[in-house]
Amino acid sequence: MSISHTRLDRFIAEYCKVSRRDVRLMLAQKRIMIDGIAVNEIGLIINKFSHVQLDGKTLQNNKAYYIMLYKPVGVVSATTDQQHKTVIDLIDLPEKNELHIVGRLDLNTSGLVLLTNDSRWSERLMSPEHKVAKKYRVELEHPITQKLSKNYIDSFLKGMYFEFEDITTLPAHLKIISEYKAEVTLFEGKYHQIKRMFGRFQNPVIGLHRFAVGKLSLDSSLAIGESRKLTSEEVVEIFK
Ligand code: URA
Repeated sequence: MSISHTRLDRFIAEYCKVSRRDVRLMLAQKRIMIDGIAVNEIGLIINKFSHVQLDGKTLQNNKAYYIMLYKPVGVVSATTDQQHKTVIDLIDLPEKNELHIVGRLDLNTSGLVLLTNDSRWSERLMSPEHKVAKKYRVELEHPITQKLSKNYIDSFLKGMYFEFEDITTLPAHLKIISEYKAEVTLFEGKYHQIKRMFGRFQNPVIGLHRFAVGKLSLDSSLAIGESRKLTSEEVVEIFK
């Protein structure tokens, strides 16, 4: 049995097929331990990763996984695909099929992809309220000339209206590195967002690479296609 968020008494009652009254008794007898501590709070909320024991027997002990992957161009950000290799295919972890992708990249975009089985962590990373920055390096077909640069920067900052979704993009930061190269910081992830934003200037994106999400940068020691687990500090500090 695996849950994302529930009351302890409900979890035990369902797992052991007993009444909530029975659970109350078990709690009073200190037979239930959460993360190694005997508890007696009937309404305690537990989550998918709480270690739940009854009489020393483990009922639930899910491990949370947080992975960074250097996605190559040509690999699809999906868990299954008929045609292309997927990001999951690149991961060497027995539990890889439990993972979901935190913010997809297009087929022809490379860079940092995060995967996890912790949906609260991924929801927090992706929600616009938390304003987690996603940083991209962009290569363009046409130059951003000196004359146009202010226009580009202001339009990214102001937000662009996308008629198809009926939304205006959140303020995005554009840093011009050279005529053909720029860095973009987004605080959301709409479909083909960067390509569509440069599309407003009839300037096709010919290379796109995500190099950071929040405080976490793509590890320079990872080769293209490689992945590693995040450290427990990275899991928390990404939000800072
Ligand atoms: N914007 C895009 O256009 N593509 C991506 O993969 C990410 C952001």
